[in-house]
Amino acid sequence: MLGVSNFQPHHLRTLFAETEVRPAVNQIEVHPYLTQDELRAFDAEHEVVTEAWAPIARGQVDGDAVIREVAGQVGKTPAQVTLRWHIQRGDVVFPKSVTRSRVEENFGIFDFELDESAMAAISALNRDQRTGPDPDEFTYIPG
Ligand SMILES: NC(=O)c1ccc[n+]([C@@H]2O[C@H](COP(=O)([O-])OP(=O)(O)OC[C@H]3O[C@@H](n4cnc5c(N)ncnc54)[C@H](OP(=O)(O)O)[C@@H]3O)[C@@H](O)[C@H]2O)c1
Repeated sequence: MLGVSNFQPHHLRTLFAETEVRPAVNQIEVHPYLTQDELRAFDAEHEVVTEAWAPIARGQVDGDAVIREVAGQVGKTPAQVTLRWHIQRGDVVFPKSVTRSRVEENFGIFDFELDESAMAAISALNRDQRTGPDPDEFTYIPG
């Protein structure tokens, strides 16, 4: 089983055209400010699971008014509703925390559901804003 990271559709097309490799997963930056709908659809079309890195936008969702409102409605935290939004979209998530209570908090996403309007409100926050580098502009390729 093999995974890739930060592959854009054109990278995957090259991989498919030139090798027999069919990755199980593509780990890419995804969060409410970078919803990656096109790339996620391409992954899905080719049976590649999307795995979201920086799923809570490196903590930024904590201060988001829209996400805080949804969180208040369902009695969860902004990080929890954001992680729930991801899994309801069908993606794998792996939030990072060095704080024990937050690690535990981030597992508390399987006992509630977001309705369509909450899902749409979070998706509407997209502004194609990255927290990390654009994969098409990396200047370093490991040897
Ligand atoms: N493939 C790639 O190119 C790539 C690139 C970047 C990152 N990653 C991986 O993706 C994983 C996650 O990404 P990330 O660390 O960049 O971003 P992230 O998981 O979206 O955010 C991590 C930040 O959010 C804080 N946080 C965690 N849980 C929280 C909560 N419940 N409430 C409020 N704040 C919370 C953390 O603080 P504390 O730790 O202080 O609690 C940390 O500052 C990492 O393991 C990383 O290795 C992969």
